[in-house]
Amino acid sequence: MTDRTTDPNSGAVVPAPAVDPALRGLLPPNLDDLADRPSLAPRGLIARARAFGLAVAGLASAGGAAITWGQVERRLPVVRHVDVPVPASRNTHELRILQISDLHLYPGQEFLIDFLSRVARTEPVDLVLSTGDNFGSTDGLDLVRAAYEPFLDLPGAFVLGSNDYYSPQHRNWGHYLRRDPRISSSGLRGLDLLEDEFGTPSFGGGGEIQQDPDLPWREMVSLFTDAGWEDLSNRAATLSVPGSGGKNSSARIGGGSGAQQIVSLIGVDDPHMDRDRMPVPEDSWQDPAAVRLAVAHAPYVRVLDAFARTAPDLMVAGHTHGGQIGLPWFGALVTNCDLPRAYAKGLHTWHAHINTPLNVSAGLGTSPFAPVRIATRPEVSVIRLVPTWM
Ligand SMILES: [Fe+2]
Repeated sequence: MTDRTTDPNSGAVVPAPAVDPALRGLLPPNLDDLADRPSLAPRGLIARARAFGLAVAGLASAGGAAITWGQVERRLPVVRHVDVPVPASRNTHELRILQISDLHLYPGQEFLIDFLSRVARTEPVDLVLSTGDNFGSTDGLDLVRAAYEPFLDLPGAFVLGSNDYYSPQHRNWGHYLRRDPRISSSGLRGLDLLEDEFGTPSFGGGGEIQQDPDLPWREMVSLFTDAGWEDLSNRAATLSVPGSGGKNSSARIGGGSGAQQIVSLIGVDDPHMDRDRMPVPEDSWQDPAAVRLAVAHAPYVRVLDAFARTAPDLMVAGHTHGGQIGLPWFGALVTNCDLPRAYAKGLHTWHAHINTPLNVSAGLGTSPFAPVRIATRPEVSVIRLVPTWM
C-alpha cells in the first residue's frame, strides 16, 4: 500500500509526499488503511454533515413556523366552560363565575378588549373574579379600564399579581428556563420553572420589596373597589350575589330564580412575590348555604394547601399562562411556580387535606417581550357551580 494523491494539472496519480518521520507518531496507527480507502471516510463525513445540516435546517424551520403560529394563536382567545358540583344538601343556588386573568394589557392588545366585550354580551355571568396580572406596560391603565368596563356592574372580587405592581422587564429568552430557587413550605421542590417569565424584579423572603411599584395599581384597585368589587389581597369578604340567570343581552342578572346567593371569599396577595398572608375567613364561611371561594394569582403549593385546609368549594388562580408554550400531546413545559405541570391550566382536583376543585386559568395575554402562545389558547373561564346530589 502506498500513499498517493492526484496532480491537479495533469490528473495523473502521483505518489504522495513522504510523511516526515517526526510526525508519524502523531498520526493514527491505521493511517495506511485509511489511505487505501481514501474516499470512504470523507463520504461518510459528508453524508453525516449533510444529514445534520438538514436536521438543523428542519428544526430551525419548524421553530420558525412554531413561533409564527404562536403569534397567531395568542390572538385566538376562547371561553372555557367548566362545571363544578356543590352538594345540593347545602341549598346553594347555581352560580356562574367569570374568571379573567393575566390580561397583560399594553398598546396593541385591543383585540383582547374586543373579546371581553363579546364575552360580556354573550355569556351569562353572576360573579366576576379577576386573578391579576392586568398590565403589560406602564401605559395600560386606559386599556384595563376598557377591558373591565362591561363587567363593573356585576358583583366582583380581585387579587393582584406581580404585573399589577411592576412592569415587565426585557430578558434574554434563554434566561426564562431556569429553576425557581424557591421551595414551597410543603417541602415539594419546584419543577423546572420560568425564572420569572415577565422579568419581575426579584423579592427577598418575607415579601420585602426591592423597589417601588411602577404600575398604576392603586388606580386600578380604585376602579374595582369603586364598582363595589372586593379586594381579596390577604383579605376575606362576603358578597350577596343575585341568583343564577347571569348576565348577557337576553338574560341579565336575576334571570333565573332571583334569589340571593351568599358568597364567602378568601384571597391572598401575590405568592409569586412572597406577599401571601392567609386571611381568617368571615363568619359566612361557616354558613352551609354560602358558596366558599378561595382566590390567588400564583398557585403555589403552599397556598393551595392552606386554602384546602379551609374546605372551599372552589379554588381559582392564574399566573401560569397554561405554560404559554406547550407541546401537542405533552402540554405545558413549565408553570412559572412550584405547581406541577399537570395542573398548568384547566379544572383539576387538588388532593390535599380534602379533595378540592381547582381552576387554573391559562389567562389571556402575554408579555410584550414574549408575544407568543403555542398549544395554549388565551382564555377566560366560565365556571358553573351546580348544586348536585352526591
Ligand atoms: Fe401573568
